[in-house]
Amino acid sequence: MDEVIISGLTKKFDDLTAVDHIELSVPEGSIYGLLGPNGAGKSTTIRLLCTLLRPNEGTAKVGGFDVIESPVQVREITGVLPEEGNHTLYQTMSAYENLEYFGKLYGIPINELHGRIEELLTFMDLWERKDDPAGELSTGNRQRLALCRALLHRPKVLLLDEPTSALDPVAAKRVRELILSLAEKYKQTFFINSHNLSEVQRMCDRIAIIDEGQILISGDTEELRSRLQASENFRIRVVEDQETALSIIKSMNFVTSVDREADSILATIDDPINNNTILLQALLSKGVRIIEFAEEEASLEDLYLDVIKGGVK
Ligand SMILES: Nc1ncnc2c1ncn2[C@@H]1O[C@H](COP(=O)(O)OP(=O)(O)OP(=O)(O)O)[C@@H](O)[C@H]1O
Ligand SMILES: [Mg+2]
Repeated sequence: MDEVIISGLTKKFDDLTAVDHIELSVPEGSIYGLLGPNGAGKSTTIRLLCTLLRPNEGTAKVGGFDVIESPVQVREITGVLPEEGNHTLYQTMSAYENLEYFGKLYGIPINELHGRIEELLTFMDLWERKDDPAGELSTGNRQRLALCRALLHRPKVLLLDEPTSALDPVAAKRVRELILSLAEKYKQTFFINSHNLSEVQRMCDRIAIIDEGQILISGDTEELRSRLQASENFRIRVVEDQETALSIIKSMNFVTSVDREADSILATIDDPINNNTILLQALLSKGVRIIEFAEEEASLEDLYLDVIKGGVK
Protein backbone atom coordinates (compact mmCIF):
# COMPACT_ATOMS: atom_id res chain seq x y z
CA MET A 1 0.00 0.00 0.00
CA ASP A 2 1.12 3.54 -0.70
CA GLU A 3 1.21 5.67 2.46
CA VAL A 4 1.58 8.97 0.65
CA ILE A 5 -0.23 9.57 -2.62
CA ILE A 6 0.04 12.95 -4.29
CA SER A 7 -1.87 13.76 -7.43
CA GLY A 8 -1.81 17.04 -9.36
CA LEU A 9 -0.88 18.86 -6.15
CA THR A 10 -0.47 22.60 -6.67
CA LYS A 11 0.22 25.50 -4.33
CA LYS A 12 0.33 29.10 -5.44
CA PHE A 13 1.45 32.15 -3.51
CA ASP A 14 -0.06 35.01 -5.54
CA ASP A 15 1.66 34.78 -8.93
CA LEU A 16 4.21 32.25 -7.83
CA THR A 17 3.47 28.56 -8.29
CA ALA A 18 5.59 27.01 -5.54
CA VAL A 19 4.31 23.46 -6.17
CA ASP A 20 3.13 22.77 -9.68
CA HIS A 21 0.93 19.73 -10.35
CA ILE A 22 3.20 17.18 -8.75
CA GLU A 23 2.55 13.45 -8.75
CA LEU A 24 4.21 10.95 -6.50
CA SER A 25 3.56 8.00 -4.25
CA VAL A 26 5.46 6.51 -1.37
CA PRO A 27 5.05 2.80 -0.53
CA GLU A 28 4.65 1.75 3.10
CA GLY A 29 7.97 1.23 4.87
CA SER A 30 9.98 3.02 2.23
CA ILE A 31 12.17 6.09 2.44
CA TYR A 32 11.45 8.71 -0.20
CA GLY A 33 13.83 11.58 -0.86
CA LEU A 34 12.72 14.86 -2.36
CA LEU A 35 15.75 16.71 -3.67
CA GLY A 36 16.04 20.14 -5.14
CA PRO A 37 17.80 23.48 -5.01
CA ASN A 38 16.76 26.39 -2.77
CA GLY A 39 13.26 27.58 -3.47
CA ALA A 40 12.35 24.45 -5.46
CA GLY A 41 9.17 23.75 -3.49
CA LYS A 42 10.33 21.03 -1.07
CA SER A 43 9.20 22.64 2.18
CA THR A 44 5.93 23.76 0.63
CA THR A 45 5.26 20.12 -0.33
CA ILE A 46 5.82 19.01 3.28
CA ARG A 47 3.61 21.82 4.58
CA LEU A 48 0.85 20.67 2.25
CA LEU A 49 1.24 17.06 3.41
CA CYS A 50 1.11 17.95 7.09
CA THR A 51 -1.96 20.16 6.53
CA LEU A 52 -0.25 23.43 7.46
CA LEU A 53 -1.06 24.74 3.99
CA ARG A 54 -4.08 24.11 1.83
CA PRO A 55 -3.51 23.24 -1.81
CA ASN A 56 -5.04 25.28 -4.64
CA GLU A 57 -5.47 22.20 -6.79
CA GLY A 58 -4.94 18.47 -6.65
CA THR A 59 -5.07 15.98 -3.82
CA ALA A 60 -2.78 14.39 -1.28
CA LYS A 61 -3.46 11.40 0.93
CA VAL A 62 -1.41 10.39 3.91
CA GLY A 63 -2.05 6.95 5.38
CA GLY A 64 -5.26 6.82 3.36
CA PHE A 65 -6.56 10.16 4.72
CA ASP A 66 -7.15 13.14 2.48
CA VAL A 67 -5.29 16.24 3.69
CA ILE A 68 -8.26 18.52 3.01
CA GLU A 69 -11.09 16.28 4.15
CA SER A 70 -9.44 14.63 7.15
CA PRO A 71 -6.69 16.91 8.46
CA VAL A 72 -7.10 15.76 12.08
CA GLN A 73 -6.55 12.10 11.18
CA VAL A 74 -3.58 13.05 9.00
CA ARG A 75 -1.98 14.87 11.93
CA GLU A 76 -2.58 11.92 14.25
CA ILE A 77 -0.70 9.47 12.10
CA THR A 78 2.17 11.71 11.01
CA GLY A 79 5.29 12.96 12.71
CA VAL A 80 6.65 16.19 11.32
CA LEU A 81 10.00 17.84 11.46
CA PRO A 82 9.34 21.23 9.91
CA GLU A 83 12.03 23.31 8.27
CA GLU A 84 12.24 25.51 11.35
CA GLY A 85 12.35 22.44 13.59
CA ASN A 86 12.86 24.38 16.78
CA HIS A 87 9.70 26.41 16.23
CA THR A 88 7.75 23.34 17.23
CA LEU A 89 9.37 23.38 20.66
CA TYR A 90 8.55 25.46 23.70
CA GLN A 91 11.74 27.41 24.26
CA THR A 92 11.42 27.90 28.01
CA MET A 93 10.42 24.30 28.76
CA SER A 94 13.21 21.77 29.23
CA ALA A 95 13.99 19.14 26.61
CA TYR A 96 12.26 16.53 28.79
CA GLU A 97 9.22 18.70 29.52
CA ASN A 98 8.75 19.41 25.83
CA LEU A 99 8.57 15.70 25.02
CA GLU A 100 6.38 14.99 28.04
CA TYR A 101 3.97 17.72 27.00
CA PHE A 102 3.68 16.52 23.39
CA GLY A 103 3.51 12.88 24.49
CA LYS A 104 0.50 13.66 26.67
CA LEU A 105 -1.13 15.57 23.82
CA TYR A 106 -0.74 12.47 21.66
CA GLY A 107 -2.29 10.38 24.42
CA ILE A 108 0.71 8.15 25.05
CA PRO A 109 0.05 6.27 28.35
CA ILE A 110 2.12 7.90 31.08
CA ASN A 111 3.98 4.73 32.15
CA GLU A 112 5.07 4.16 28.57
CA LEU A 113 5.82 7.80 27.87
CA HIS A 114 8.75 8.14 30.28
CA GLY A 115 10.48 5.08 28.88
CA ARG A 116 10.12 6.34 25.33
CA ILE A 117 11.42 9.81 26.21
CA GLU A 118 14.47 8.34 27.93
CA GLU A 119 15.11 6.01 25.00
CA LEU A 120 14.91 8.78 22.40
CA LEU A 121 16.90 11.36 24.36
CA THR A 122 19.58 8.77 25.07
CA PHE A 123 19.74 7.71 21.44
CA MET A 124 20.12 11.32 20.31
CA ASP A 125 22.80 11.93 22.96
CA LEU A 126 20.60 14.45 24.71
CA TRP A 127 19.95 12.68 28.00
CA GLU A 128 22.54 14.81 29.79
CA ARG A 129 20.76 17.90 28.50
CA LYS A 130 17.27 16.78 29.43
CA ASP A 131 16.81 19.59 31.98
CA ASP A 132 18.12 22.37 29.72
CA PRO A 133 15.50 24.73 28.31
CA ALA A 134 14.98 23.99 24.60
CA GLY A 135 15.80 27.61 23.78
CA GLU A 136 19.25 27.24 25.33
CA LEU A 137 20.26 24.18 23.32
CA SER A 138 22.61 24.52 20.36
CA THR A 139 21.02 24.52 16.89
CA GLY A 140 22.02 20.91 16.27
CA ASN A 141 20.72 19.77 19.65
CA ARG A 142 17.43 21.55 19.03
CA GLN A 143 17.17 19.71 15.74
CA ARG A 144 17.77 16.43 17.58
CA LEU A 145 15.07 17.32 20.09
CA ALA A 146 12.64 18.26 17.32
CA LEU A 147 13.36 14.86 15.75
CA CYS A 148 12.61 13.14 19.08
CA ARG A 149 9.34 15.02 19.12
CA ALA A 150 8.47 13.88 15.59
CA LEU A 151 9.21 10.23 16.45
CA LEU A 152 7.73 10.12 19.96
CA HIS A 153 4.22 8.89 19.15
CA ARG A 154 5.54 6.28 16.68
CA PRO A 155 3.66 7.72 13.72
CA LYS A 156 3.06 5.65 10.61
CA VAL A 157 4.37 8.41 8.37
CA LEU A 158 7.24 10.80 9.01
CA LEU A 159 7.61 14.03 7.09
CA LEU A 160 11.10 15.33 7.70
CA ASP A 161 12.34 18.60 6.27
CA GLU A 162 16.14 18.37 6.04
CA PRO A 163 16.50 16.25 9.18
CA THR A 164 20.29 16.30 9.30
CA SER A 165 20.97 19.83 8.08
CA ALA A 166 22.25 21.12 11.44
CA LEU A 167 23.83 17.89 12.65
CA ASP A 168 27.50 17.03 12.86
CA PRO A 169 28.60 14.04 10.75
CA VAL A 170 28.42 11.56 13.64
CA ALA A 171 24.92 12.63 14.64
CA ALA A 172 23.81 12.71 11.00
CA LYS A 173 24.98 9.11 10.56
CA ARG A 174 23.11 8.01 13.68
CA VAL A 175 19.93 9.64 12.44
CA ARG A 176 20.28 7.99 9.03
CA GLU A 177 20.78 4.62 10.70
CA LEU A 178 17.78 5.21 12.94
CA ILE A 179 15.58 6.07 9.95
CA LEU A 180 16.72 2.97 8.07
CA SER A 181 16.05 0.71 11.05
CA LEU A 182 12.62 2.23 11.79
CA ALA A 183 11.54 1.81 8.17
CA GLU A 184 12.66 -1.80 8.21
CA LYS A 185 11.52 -2.86 11.68
CA TYR A 186 8.28 -0.96 12.14
CA LYS A 187 7.42 -0.28 8.48
CA GLN A 188 7.32 3.42 9.21
CA THR A 189 7.29 5.46 6.02
CA PHE A 190 9.61 8.41 5.55
CA PHE A 191 9.27 11.40 3.26
CA ILE A 192 12.46 13.40 3.48
CA ASN A 193 13.51 16.72 1.99
CA SER A 194 17.18 17.10 1.45
CA HIS A 195 19.98 18.97 -0.27
CA ASN A 196 22.40 16.26 0.64
CA LEU A 197 22.81 14.04 -2.38
CA SER A 198 25.13 11.47 -0.94
CA GLU A 199 22.86 11.09 2.06
CA VAL A 200 19.82 10.52 -0.12
CA GLN A 201 21.76 8.10 -2.27
CA ARG A 202 22.67 6.03 0.77
CA MET A 203 19.33 6.11 2.51
CA CYS A 204 16.40 6.51 0.13
CA ASP A 205 14.71 3.77 -1.89
CA ARG A 206 13.21 6.27 -4.25
CA ILE A 207 13.96 9.85 -5.09
CA ALA A 208 12.42 12.73 -6.97
CA ILE A 209 14.18 15.86 -8.11
CA ILE A 210 12.08 19.00 -7.93
CA ASP A 211 12.84 22.42 -9.38
CA GLU A 212 10.60 25.47 -9.74
CA GLY A 213 7.73 23.46 -8.29
CA GLN A 214 7.90 20.68 -10.86
CA ILE A 215 9.19 17.17 -10.53
CA LEU A 216 11.83 16.78 -13.21
CA ILE A 217 12.64 13.16 -12.66
CA SER A 218 11.71 10.43 -10.19
CA GLY A 219 12.31 6.77 -9.65
CA ASP A 220 14.12 4.04 -7.85
CA THR A 221 17.49 5.34 -6.63
CA GLU A 222 19.51 2.61 -8.36
CA GLU A 223 17.51 2.91 -11.54
CA LEU A 224 18.18 6.64 -11.70
CA ARG A 225 21.85 6.08 -11.20
CA SER A 226 21.95 3.49 -13.96
CA ARG A 227 20.51 6.05 -16.38
CA LEU A 228 23.90 7.65 -16.24
CA GLN A 229 25.63 4.57 -17.49
CA ALA A 230 25.25 5.75 -21.10
CA SER A 231 28.38 7.76 -20.46
CA GLU A 232 31.03 7.29 -17.85
CA ASN A 233 33.86 9.25 -16.32
CA PHE A 234 37.39 7.92 -16.47
CA ARG A 235 40.33 9.22 -14.51
CA ILE A 236 43.56 9.00 -16.45
CA ARG A 237 46.97 9.64 -14.91
CA VAL A 238 50.17 9.55 -16.93
CA VAL A 239 53.86 9.59 -15.99
CA GLU A 240 54.73 12.77 -17.88
CA ASP A 241 53.74 14.47 -21.06
CA GLN A 242 50.20 15.27 -20.02
CA GLU A 243 49.91 17.53 -23.06
CA THR A 244 50.24 14.63 -25.53
CA ALA A 245 47.75 12.56 -23.56
CA LEU A 246 45.34 15.48 -23.48
CA SER A 247 45.47 16.07 -27.23
CA ILE A 248 44.93 12.35 -27.96
CA ILE A 249 41.96 12.21 -25.59
CA LYS A 250 40.44 15.37 -27.07
CA SER A 251 40.80 14.02 -30.62
CA MET A 252 38.48 11.08 -29.92
CA ASN A 253 34.94 11.74 -31.09
CA PHE A 254 33.37 9.65 -28.31
CA VAL A 255 34.92 11.82 -25.59
CA THR A 256 32.26 14.32 -24.59
CA SER A 257 34.15 16.32 -22.00
CA VAL A 258 37.67 16.61 -20.66
CA ASP A 259 38.75 18.20 -17.39
CA ARG A 260 42.30 18.66 -16.34
CA GLU A 261 42.90 18.23 -12.64
CA ALA A 262 46.13 18.58 -10.66
CA ASP A 263 47.84 15.37 -11.72
CA SER A 264 45.18 13.65 -13.76
CA ILE A 265 42.73 14.03 -16.59
CA LEU A 266 39.03 13.36 -16.20
CA ALA A 267 37.32 12.33 -19.43
CA THR A 268 33.65 11.53 -20.04
CA ILE A 269 33.22 8.77 -22.60
CA ASP A 270 30.14 7.73 -24.53
CA ASP A 271 29.49 4.00 -24.86
CA PRO A 272 32.34 3.25 -22.47
CA ILE A 273 32.20 -0.53 -22.81
CA ASN A 274 33.43 -0.28 -26.41
CA ASN A 275 35.31 2.95 -26.34
CA ASN A 276 37.48 2.78 -23.23
CA THR A 277 39.78 0.18 -24.78
CA ILE A 278 40.01 2.23 -27.99
CA LEU A 279 41.15 5.23 -25.96
CA LEU A 280 43.57 3.17 -23.93
CA GLN A 281 45.12 1.67 -27.05
CA ALA A 282 45.41 5.08 -28.72
CA LEU A 283 47.32 6.41 -25.72
CA LEU A 284 49.61 3.39 -25.50
CA SER A 285 50.33 3.37 -29.23
CA LYS A 286 51.62 6.94 -28.97
CA GLY A 287 53.97 5.90 -26.18
CA VAL A 288 52.05 7.55 -23.33
CA ARG A 289 52.98 5.85 -20.04
CA ILE A 290 49.86 5.39 -18.01
CA ILE A 291 49.75 5.14 -14.22
CA GLU A 292 45.99 5.03 -13.83
CA PHE A 293 43.05 4.48 -16.13
CA ALA A 294 40.09 4.08 -13.81
CA GLU A 295 36.37 4.34 -14.02
CA GLU A 296 34.78 6.80 -11.59
CA GLU A 297 31.46 5.64 -10.21
CA ALA A 298 28.66 7.79 -11.52
CA SER A 299 27.04 9.50 -8.59
CA LEU A 300 23.62 10.89 -8.07
CA GLU A 301 25.29 14.26 -8.01
CA ASP A 302 26.10 14.00 -11.71
CA LEU A 303 22.53 13.09 -12.42
CA TYR A 304 21.22 15.87 -10.22
CA LEU A 305 23.33 18.50 -11.95
CA ASP A 306 22.38 17.14 -15.38
CA VAL A 307 18.70 17.21 -14.49
CA ILE A 308 18.79 20.70 -13.03
CA LYS A 309 20.63 21.90 -16.15
CA GLY A 310 18.01 20.22 -18.32
CA GLY A 311 20.35 17.55 -19.66
CA VAL A 312 18.35 14.45 -18.67
CA LYS A 313 14.68 13.97 -19.37
N1 LIG B 1 4.39 31.62 2.70
C1 LIG B 1 4.91 31.95 1.51
N2 LIG B 1 4.52 33.07 0.87
C2 LIG B 1 5.04 33.40 -0.34
N3 LIG B 1 5.95 32.66 -1.00
C3 LIG B 1 6.36 31.53 -0.41
C4 LIG B 1 5.87 31.12 0.87
N4 LIG B 1 6.48 29.95 1.21
C5 LIG B 1 7.30 29.65 0.19
N5 LIG B 1 7.24 30.59 -0.78
C6 LIG B 1 7.98 30.57 -2.06
O1 LIG B 1 7.73 29.32 -2.67
C7 LIG B 1 8.90 28.82 -3.31
C8 LIG B 1 9.22 27.45 -2.76
O2 LIG B 1 9.65 27.58 -1.40
P1 LIG B 1 10.05 26.34 -0.49
O3 LIG B 1 10.26 26.87 0.87
O4 LIG B 1 9.04 25.28 -0.67
O5 LIG B 1 11.42 25.91 -1.17
P2 LIG B 1 12.46 24.77 -0.68
O6 LIG B 1 12.63 23.84 -1.82
O7 LIG B 1 12.06 24.23 0.61
O8 LIG B 1 13.80 25.64 -0.55
P3 LIG B 1 15.01 25.51 0.53
O9 LIG B 1 15.92 24.45 -0.02
O10 LIG B 1 15.65 26.85 0.47
O11 LIG B 1 14.44 25.18 1.87
C9 LIG B 1 9.98 29.86 -3.07
O12 LIG B 1 10.05 30.69 -4.20
C10 LIG B 1 9.47 30.61 -1.87
O13 LIG B 1 9.95 31.94 -1.88
MG1 LIG C 1 12.93 24.19 2.44
